[in-house]
Amino acid sequence: MEAVKTLLCVGVCVSAWSITTAGNSIPTAKNVHWMSVDFTTILKWTVQPSDNLYSVLYSEADGDWTESHDCSEMSGTECDLTTHLWPLDRNYQADIKTEDPDYDLEDVPHTYSPHFNPYRASNISAVKFTVQEVDVGTATVNITDSLTAIHKGGKPLSIRDILKKDLQYKISYYKSDSTRKRDVVTQTSVTNVTGLDAGQSYCFMVAAYIPSRPKATQHGAWSTQQCIDGHRNIVQDLSLEAWVGIFFVLLVVLVIIVVVTLLCYRCRHQKNKPQTSQTSAPV
Ligand SMILES: *[C@@H]1O[C@H](CO)[C@@H](O)[C@H](O)[C@H]1NC(C)=O
Ligand SMILES: *[C@@H]1O[C@H](CO)[C@@H](O)[C@H](O)[C@H]1NC(C)=O
Repeated sequence: MEAVKTLLCVGVCVSAWSITTAGNSIPTAKNVHWMSVDFTTILKWTVQPSDNLYSVLYSEADGDWTESHDCSEMSGTECDLTTHLWPLDRNYQADIKTEDPDYDLEDVPHTYSPHFNPYRASNISAVKFTVQEVDVGTATVNITDSLTAIHKGGKPLSIRDILKKDLQYKISYYKSDSTRKRDVVTQTSVTNVTGLDAGQSYCFMVAAYIPSRPKATQHGAWSTQQCIDGHRNIVQDLSLEAWVGIFFVLLVVLVIIVVVTLLCYRCRHQKNKPQTSQTSAPV
């Protein structure tokens, strides 16, 4: 009987202990993920509301862990690791530990991030470009390589400085009265697009294209479209409606001139007349 009692007591004690520890369990970072645009790379996560602070460590694949100075004992839920992830073409991992003095460094509660390679997975934002008709049937597309937040020698590096030969651009264009799009891939930032129909309007869009990357991250964001107006000879390209409009305006102007001239003529005629009529009028 005594044995059963002790056993029960132990059972109750153990479950009570496990309940209290579960209640006190240290919250860890959840949903740890990377957000990266033009090689600015930010680690983000979510936490349950609490007073706990978090510190971020990072490492190159299987390398040593380094604590980020900017993201040490913080209550925020994001950490800009851009300047630490260099060289870019490496697999990095981060680790978010929950600060708690009751734990040894080894078994502190923490959450690993997924691996991330900025060179291969950073999103490329929409680039700026201009397009100009330079000849009949030829337009020049001039793309500006976007600047990144990464500086070397005091100057910001462009996406071309970083991706070098791996950076290509996709130019997509269509005739404004058609929906059929044509694509051109180019290695350079200035490209002549040839074979356009003379006198036609065309609209262009461009996006960075990095075929050396995995499929999911090959394409940058598309820019807003820019159009060129094929109508260079205004007189030749006026529509029938415009001609009819011009004809009516001219007709109205002509009628006004005729009417005004007639009125003036009659006015003067009458001014000259009254001298005689006035004298003859009874006073
Ligand atoms: C890149 O953009 C896509 C689409 O907006 C998004 O789903 C993905 O999370 C982004 N990747 C990074 C690393 O920011
Ligand atoms: C392309 O644009 C840049 C700046 O917008 C300009 O400096 C450069 O001369 C242009 N190149 C050509 C070939 O038009």
